[in-house]
Amino acid sequence: TVLIVDFGSQFTQLIARRVRECGVYSEIVPYQKAGEAFERMRPKAIILSGGPASTTEANSPRAPQALFEAGVPMLGICYGQMCMVEQLGGEIESADHREFGRAYVTVAGKTSLTDGLWDAGTRHQVWMSHGDRVIRPPKGFEVIGTSENAPYAYIADEKRKFYGVMFHPEVVHTPDGAKLISNFVHHVAGLPGDWTMAAFREEMKAKIRAQVGSEKVICGLSGGVDSAVAAVLIHEAIGDQLTCIFVDHGLMRMNEAEQVVGLFRNHYNIPLVHVDASETFLTALEGETDPEKKRKTIGRLFIEVFDAEAAKIGGAGFLAQGTLYPDVIESVSAVGGPSVTIKSHHNVGGLPDHMKLKLVEPLRELFKDEVRALGRELGLPEIFVGRHPFPGPGLAIRCPGGVTREKLDILRRADAIYLDEIRKAGLYDAIWQAFAVLLPVQTVGVMGDGRTYEHVLALRAVTSVDGMTADFFHFDMDFLGRAATRIINEVRGVNRVVYDVTSKPPGTIEWE
Ligand code: XMP
Repeated sequence: TVLIVDFGSQFTQLIARRVRECGVYSEIVPYQKAGEAFERMRPKAIILSGGPASTTEANSPRAPQALFEAGVPMLGICYGQMCMVEQLGGEIESADHREFGRAYVTVAGKTSLTDGLWDAGTRHQVWMSHGDRVIRPPKGFEVIGTSENAPYAYIADEKRKFYGVMFHPEVVHTPDGAKLISNFVHHVAGLPGDWTMAAFREEMKAKIRAQVGSEKVICGLSGGVDSAVAAVLIHEAIGDQLTCIFVDHGLMRMNEAEQVVGLFRNHYNIPLVHVDASETFLTALEGETDPEKKRKTIGRLFIEVFDAEAAKIGGAGFLAQGTLYPDVIESVSAVGGPSVTIKSHHNVGGLPDHMKLKLVEPLRELFKDEVRALGRELGLPEIFVGRHPFPGPGLAIRCPGGVTREKLDILRRADAIYLDEIRKAGLYDAIWQAFAVLLPVQTVGVMGDGRTYEHVLALRAVTSVDGMTADFFHFDMDFLGRAATRIINEVRGVNRVVYDVTSKPPGTIEWE
C-alpha cells in the first residue's frame, strides 16, 4: 500500500487515483493522522501532497518526523517537497514570483524515479502552482531538475529513495506525470500492480465484517449508484444483518422508485423497507418557492421519515452510507473551511445526534468511476451503474418556484423523453448529467389553430469530471430540435423548449 499524506491540496484525490491506476492500493490520510495511519498500514511508499499553506508560516502543517526515519521511499509534491526539505534540515524561502501553470523542467541528472523517462539534458513540460521555493536542499539531496523560477524543481536523495518535486505530477497538464507516479510505485517502491476491484471487494468485505461484528446495519437507498453499490457490497459481507430503507419522497424520475424496489427485492433479495412518503413531502413543500427552504424542508423530512423507519426496525448499531471521496472533501470544506455554502446537501453528516449510529462507509476512498467499476464487479445492471448523478432533493429543485404533483408529472414525462432521445443518439455516457427543468414561466404558442399559454421547459446537459466544474454539452441543433418536438407533441403543458448553455462556474449544474 501507499500512504498519501494530505496537506489539503485540491489535487490530493488525483494522486490517489493515479496510484490506483497503477494497480496499487493507497489511502489518503490527513497529515494530523498520518503517524497513526503509518503504524496501522505499514505502507511500502509514502507520498506527501501539496497544500495551501507555507512552511515559512508559524504553525504550518508538517508530516510526522517518524515517516522520514522509517526507511520507506517517499515522494514530496509541492508543499510536500517543502516539508521534506524543511524537516530534513534544508531551507525554504517565500519566492517573490509565484509560479502558476505551465512551466518547463530541465533535467540535469538521473534517478530511478525518472529513469528511462527523462534523460539528462532534456526539457519537459510540467504544471506548477506554488509560492515558496527551496533555497538549500537537505544533506544527501542532489538537484535533478530546474525550472525558470525554481532552481530546485526536482531534487532527490537516491540513497534514501526520497524525491521532491515542486510541480504536480498528478495533473494531466504534466504530460509525463502519470508515468512518473507509476515509476515511483513500481520501480522505486517495488510494488506490484496487482490491485484490482475484485481485490478491493474482498478486502472491503473483510473490513466491513470486522467493523460491524454481529450488529445490525441500516442503509438508506436513494436510487443512485453510490448507495446501491454500498448496500450490495455490505449485504455480501454480512447478509441479512443489513436492512435497506428507501424513502420515496415522490420526487424521483419516471419509474425510478419501481426500479430500485425491483432490483433489491427481486434481483438481490436484500431486505428492503419501501416508504411511500410522497404525501408528507409534497404537503410540506406546498407554496414554498425559496430554493434553500425547499432543500432544507426535504432534508429535514427525509431524516424524520428515515429515523421513524429505523426506529421500527430497532436495535441497529450502524448506519451505512455511500459516501464517496469527493463528498468527504466537499463536506469537510463545508463544515470547517473558508468556503461558503452554495447549496445545502443533505446526504453527508446530516443525521440527528440522538441516532448516534456508527457509520459504515465502504466507498469513502473511491471516485465515482471507481464506484461504477465496483458496481459492475458486483453484478449491478448497467442501467443502474452508468446512471447520471441525481440530487437528493430530486425533481423539487428542477421545478423552480412552487412544487405541485401536476408540475412534477409534466416534468417527469418531459425528462423521460429527453433522456430517451439522448440514449437513442448514443450520447448518454458522454454526458455527466442531463435533465429537464420546468420553469415557472408560461409563454404563448400556437398549436393546431389554437392559442396555447403553457410552461417553458429548459433542457440541461453538462460534461464534468467530478461535478465541481462543468461545461454545457454541445448537442447538434438537429438533436435539440428532435427532442423539443417530441416533448411538445407528447407532453401536455409544455409549449416551448430552451437549452441551457451555462457552464459551472458561473452557473451551477442544478438550477436551484
Ligand atoms: P450543483 O448544482 O451544485 O451540483 O452544481 C453539483 C452536483 O451535485 C448534485 N447535487 C446534489 N446531490 N444532494 C445530492 O446528493 C443535493 O442536495 C444536491 N444538490 C446538487 C448535482 O446534481 C450535481 O451532480
